[in-house]
Amino acid sequence: MTTTLTPVLCASWDDERSWSLDTYERHQGYQALRRALASAPADVIETVKRSGLRGRGGAGFPTGMKWGFLPPPDGGPRYLVVNADESEPGTCKDVPLMLAAPHLLVEGAVITAYAIGCEHAFIYVRGEVVHVYRRLLRAVAEAHEKGYLGTDILGSGFDLQITVHAGAGAYICGEETALLDSLEGRRGQPRLKPPFPAVAGLYARPTVVNNVESIASVPSIVLRGADWFSSMGTEKSTGFGLFSLSGHVTNPGQYEAPLGITLRELLELAGGVREGHQLKFWTPGGSSTPIFTDEHLDVPLDFEAVAAAGSMLGTRALQIFDETTCVVRAVSRWIDFYAHESCGKCTPCREGNYWMKQVLHRLEDGRGTEADLDKLLDTCDNILGRAFCALGDGATSPVTSSIAYFRDEYLRHLPSAQNPAGGCPFDPGASALFTPEAMALS
Ligand SMILES: Cc1cc2nc3c(=O)[nH]c(=O)nc-3n(C[C@H](O)[C@H](O)[C@H](O)COP(=O)(O)O)c2cc1C
Ligand code: SF4
Repeated sequence: MTTTLTPVLCASWDDERSWSLDTYERHQGYQALRRALASAPADVIETVKRSGLRGRGGAGFPTGMKWGFLPPPDGGPRYLVVNADESEPGTCKDVPLMLAAPHLLVEGAVITAYAIGCEHAFIYVRGEVVHVYRRLLRAVAEAHEKGYLGTDILGSGFDLQITVHAGAGAYICGEETALLDSLEGRRGQPRLKPPFPAVAGLYARPTVVNNVESIASVPSIVLRGADWFSSMGTEKSTGFGLFSLSGHVTNPGQYEAPLGITLRELLELAGGVREGHQLKFWTPGGSSTPIFTDEHLDVPLDFEAVAAAGSMLGTRALQIFDETTCVVRAVSRWIDFYAHESCGKCTPCREGNYWMKQVLHRLEDGRGTEADLDKLLDTCDNILGRAFCALGDGATSPVTSSIAYFRDEYLRHLPSAQNPAGGCPFDPGASALFTPEAMALS
């Protein structure tokens, strides 16, 4: 069994009142801020660059490099926006992090703001998670009382305000430019890039947008050094991260480990697939990443190896499905989600997801034909690379990968001698849920 768990972000989660400032300070809380304030902002950026930290929000863009893209100060405001929207199906790491250790995010935000010369930072949190919103508000207030926020922080002359903003609950508002529109009070829809947020972001000013886990990783890098961080993980995917195991696994939860750990190792730590069952398919990084099967148990979970195996590391949301799950049903539920969450700005995603939803329901209902598989693939072909933002591209991932690995299972949904009524061979009664009449009622 592997011994490679590296609890850094989750080190204090099991403590009594782990979210309080007292507990955080017992775990060296705000020591990294003192160190950062004693160095030049450019040195903080350099440390984060050298650590090799890559964005934990999905795309894996180098964090220090992103900070370095901001133009030189011109006397006007520049902003840090923390992306805490977390809405991808299966992704569930930022919410537990903010609930258990909100000060880790606040400290990371203060250090980052200092490094980039920002005096007003925002945390954009998904509005449905009211308990997280309240905990962040409390943490910000506590930090103010103790002089970690506000004017002349710890006597350094540096000033920072943090606004915690609750969004109205839309997956697209996690896309960084849609998030900025939403934060400005408009309907959340992606912006045309360029200009990138580093040049013209919030209120058209230079802005850094980073994921919660990216920002929460900063204090430990500042305190323990870039070499300590890059000694973990792999050459190009350094450090540790939260791997969220959910679904048919004995002990679901957050497993903090170096990038490059495999699902086989993680499953050993998590007690394996639930008793008496076998792994059928899984997502390496949420529903927008192509699915894997039991052939991929030993793929190192880092950005490069997962891409080489045909998927994406994404948000390390490992959703585990055993042999009792119908892959067509799982994909159909995901496409229901994408069709619902498509913001409608561009035709390939708005129309494509709508039509894929109809075709998948038809297959589930036993009214499908073999030509429907080609129709699905053709629709994906017309979305991928043609959509305005990555939501559209992501929607094609479960469809194309599931047809590649489980074409036979799709075909078993067609009416045949073995399945005269057609529909889901795992759960024949379920077909009635997807008749045109039932869907009209839903
Ligand atoms: C539809 C969609 C939803 C997204 N949702 C999130 C999210 O909830 N949280 C997040 O950090 N990034 C999300 N992203 C990625 C962001 O656009 C952006 O890449 C990220 O916040 C950058 O932070 P990082 O460099 O620290 O990873 C989403 C992207 C898309 C296309
Ligand atoms: S891809 Fe989808 S979510 Fe993105 S802009 Fe187009 S319609 Fe909106």
